[in-house]
Amino acid sequence: MNCILLGPPGAGKGTQGKKIEEAFGVVHLSTGDMFREARKSDKVVDELIALGQLVPDDIVVDVIKKRLQKEDIKKGFLLDGFPRTLNQAKEFDVVLETRQIKIDLVFFIDVHFEESVKRIAGRRVCPSCGVSYHVIATPPKVPDKCDFCCNLLVQRNDDRESIVRDRLKIYRKHSEPLVDYYKRAGSIVYIDGSKGELDVFKQISKHLEIR
Ligand code: AP5
Repeated sequence: MNCILLGPPGAGKGTQGKKIEEAFGVVHLSTGDMFREARKSDKVVDELIALGQLVPDDIVVDVIKKRLQKEDIKKGFLLDGFPRTLNQAKEFDVVLETRQIKIDLVFFIDVHFEESVKRIAGRRVCPSCGVSYHVIATPPKVPDKCDFCCNLLVQRNDDRESIVRDRLKIYRKHSEPLVDYYKRAGSIVYIDGSKGELDVFKQISKHLEIR
């Protein structure tokens, strides 16, 4: 099964992506994670991410095209953070058609923007294993240390409040129209992202279990 997770920054796409990968054996493909890895060697990408700006469509689509050539995607995949513009979605449709790949479901995880800001401001991530925490909602057992590898947790540099607000504006302008785009295609499922992590996971799982 192949799915897409849509939703604003802080909606919980990464959190749910990891849970779904574990529970259903699909590959979680996060373009944010891919570009955070690429930024170590690519100054342009590094700067765009730090400012909360989008990486150009042609680069993004190219990265996805290459990633979808790997054997593991045959288990099914879950896209998190892609597509993010109408142009990416249209180009992706062409890729899917050419390769005869079908998207089964598109989940739209909806949360209010102020909740997004609150969540992102409290997010801390482990630079080693990538596990994400929230200082109040899901704190680590020992403050500032990863439960799994004991590394010191860090705050993403695009998680500062002013940058988050810019990311939300970009989301509204470029990514929100995708909800209508996939609504018209008839494959969208609305998920109430304001609930707790487990509740959100249950809402998504019930659609995956019946397939
Ligand atoms: P990306 O990493 O994709 O950032 P994003 O979409 O802004 O999403 P986030 O990672 O901020 O939020 P999330 O929804 O994954 O929430 P999370 O689960 O972490 O992209 C980063 C950058 O890369 C972009 O700005 C852009 O520059 C570039 N990029 C990536 N893809 C691109 C593309 N396609 N085109 C162009 N550029 C691209 O949760 C957030 C916090 O909330 C955590 O602390 C978590 O613990 C907590 N939390 C999660 N769920 C809940 C819950 N239910 N209740 C309470 N707290 C919760």
